[in-house]
Amino acid sequence: MVAPMAMADSPLRPLLFLLLAALACHAADGHGHAHGLGVNYGRVADDIPTPHRSVQLLRAAGAGSVKIYDANRPVLRALSGTRLTVSIMVPNEIIVDLAASYAAADAWVAANLLPYLPATRVKYLLVGNEVLSDTSAAHTVWPRIVPAMENLHRSLRKRGVSRVKISTTLAMDALVTGAFPRPPSAATFRPDIAEAVMRPLLRFIEGTNSYYFVDAYPYFAWAGSNGTVPLDYALFNGGGRIRYVDPGTGLTYTNLLDEMLDAVGAAMSKLGHGRVRIAIAETGWPNGGDYDQIGASVHNAAIYNRNLAVRFASNPGTPARPGARMPVFVFSLFNEDLKPGPGTERHWGIYYPNGTAVYQIDLAARRPLSAYPPLPAPENDTPYKGPIWCVLAAHAAKKLNETAVGDALTYACGQGNGTCDAIQPGGHCFQPNTGAAHASYAFNSYWQQLRKTGATCYFNNLAEQTIKDPSYGSCKFQSSLG
Ligand SMILES: *[C@@H]1O[C@H](CO)[C@@H](O)[C@H](O)[C@H]1NC(C)=O
Ligand SMILES: *[C@@H]1O[C@H](CO)[C@@H](O)[C@H](O)[C@H]1NC(C)=O
Ligand SMILES: *[C@@H]1O[C@H](CO)[C@@H](O)[C@H](O)[C@H]1NC(C)=O
Ligand SMILES: *[C@@H]1O[C@H](CO)[C@@H](O)[C@H](O)[C@H]1NC(C)=O
Repeated sequence: MVAPMAMADSPLRPLLFLLLAALACHAADGHGHAHGLGVNYGRVADDIPTPHRSVQLLRAAGAGSVKIYDANRPVLRALSGTRLTVSIMVPNEIIVDLAASYAAADAWVAANLLPYLPATRVKYLLVGNEVLSDTSAAHTVWPRIVPAMENLHRSLRKRGVSRVKISTTLAMDALVTGAFPRPPSAATFRPDIAEAVMRPLLRFIEGTNSYYFVDAYPYFAWAGSNGTVPLDYALFNGGGRIRYVDPGTGLTYTNLLDEMLDAVGAAMSKLGHGRVRIAIAETGWPNGGDYDQIGASVHNAAIYNRNLAVRFASNPGTPARPGARMPVFVFSLFNEDLKPGPGTERHWGIYYPNGTAVYQIDLAARRPLSAYPPLPAPENDTPYKGPIWCVLAAHAAKKLNETAVGDALTYACGQGNGTCDAIQPGGHCFQPNTGAAHASYAFNSYWQQLRKTGATCYFNNLAEQTIKDPSYGSCKFQSSLG
């Protein structure tokens, strides 16, 4: 607002007015959404809409682009003829092969990319998903990432495909300090990757004018900060009230995401590549989770993603890179029910699997924040302190798959010490003698023993946490409070 007012008397005003009018027209273009945030379209689910319907949902949310995790044919076909730009991921599993042979890389391009161009507007090829977070791949895949990128790049050049840029996606754990690198200016890449992987990677990215794609989740940094970071600072809701000043640079931060992005920039500078552009491959906020996870709610997810859309619509850059243009991809399109791990993993969607919006959002930020209907109040912004149990999930009990539950029961009983003693004949929990009842007991017994060492209440989506004591008669279920 400030710039047009200040220039009100300037001779440039008519030109400026035309420019603004053109921008407004563009923003209002119901077909384009060219400037809306991107969305990650993950499909680790057994119940999500078809690719065709998913593309409609992307557009309804105002997405400007989409990122997919493999070169899926029906998805790429569904995207053809739309104005959505597309990022395709090259699976981690084939990196070594693509690095070993130019012919293999060229064949991959011929089979997975060329058939869709130009009707599908592919813009980025991302070689691998967070490969540097997987230490078991340190000696096999890590040194092959850049050679694979080089082979793919050569193939694109030879085939005259100049619009598609190549990169890879990296989590915040590429930095020594991980998810929450404070102060940003002190950040460095991990010593195990800095020279061997990051230096050649950054050289490639800079040489091809591509982007460093980072997965940056203020949610995890906030949730792991043990109350030391205000929630509003993570949700872009601090206004100017909540600030952090980096003692190394004197730069003032007003939100957590900017700190994370500038940390990546600082680490790149230390390798002499401080000019490499940054894209946000994944960011977002979970709309739900387990009882022992804080801050995951529809309310907070809506606030984070709406604020993100409004913020990035004006290309703010960061304190260290003011005005920098950054592609941003929200994670994710759907709640994905088959993702393992804690409950938040299955709750990142802006849509439920049935295609209903979890909350309203305009990723192109044409809608002012005040124009959205009220959100449900958040109920878990502080840690839940009551007892928690882990039982057979309600949806799994309703449509019981005896084989799957039997397998999970066998697995649980094989872990820990005396996990299933109480459901043996004569035990306090033997009756009722059903697979479902025994599974609930075993899941809980397993989880209470092993959760301190990272076990989750998941069992291939058969288990869920509850705060209602499942004990009955003389059968006692141990709780998380002991
Ligand atoms: C978190 O903060 C509480 C209260 O300030 C403290 O008692 C606890 O030790 C802290 N935990 C960690 C992991 O830092
Ligand atoms: C879609 O799923 C959500 C979450 O389970 C539910 O609340 C909503 O009512 C469903 N919508 C329709 C149209 O079935
Ligand atoms: C039941 O579970 C088994 C093992 O997980 C699986 O192979 C099978 O497809 C499932 N059956 C149904 C009807 O979902
Ligand atoms: C089971 O008991 C053994 C011996 O007492 C102990 O070393 C081990 O840590 C226990 N395992 C679990 C999962 O509690």
